[in-house]
Amino acid sequence: MTEQVNLVDESAEELHDVRVNVNGTWREIRVPARRLLSDALRHDMRLTGTHVGCEHGVCGACTVILDGRPVRSCLTLAVSVHGHEITTVEGLTGPNGELHPAQQAFADCHGLQCGFCTPGFVTTIAAYLEENPDPSEEDATEAISGNLCRCTGYQNIKKAVLRAAELKRGGAEGQGEARQ
Ligand code: FES
Ligand code: FES
Repeated sequence: MTEQVNLVDESAEELHDVRVNVNGTWREIRVPARRLLSDALRHDMRLTGTHVGCEHGVCGACTVILDGRPVRSCLTLAVSVHGHEITTVEGLTGPNGELHPAQQAFADCHGLQCGFCTPGFVTTIAAYLEENPDPSEEDATEAISGNLCRCTGYQNIKKAVLRAAELKRGGAEGQGEARQ
């Protein structure tokens, strides 16, 4: 078993109280000023659905929804979200486990392979559909242009954007032909 070594002695740093609403629940954490939101979510709040890939704002794997807008949690300091609302991929699922349209669409369209990038895509698409509930194919391409996937080639993810929009709009058009 490998012992984890903390190369930075956080006990010497000033800590800050942060109160933030995560997935509908107010959470309180005490963190150094330099703590990234991605690390605060994963390590302090144990919400490991948010993934960390590049850790410098390129891949989009760490995307969460901050006050309705998608943000890179690896570029956001935890102290800066004090008093704000965050939705992570865990918070998209309904109270009885029902999938968000963006999550269901990934299943319907086979929009993932290894799945590492998926939380970032799902949160990005969920936020995007609040702004544009009826995207064109071109819009779908644009919507996911800030997220990287090393497996799928993006075609099924683009289908998932359109499928998610259908599901979100509901009704007959959300029930049928996009399942292919
Ligand atoms: S981990 Fe944040 S953008 Fe890649
Ligand atoms: S499914 Fe593997 S990186 Fe996207």
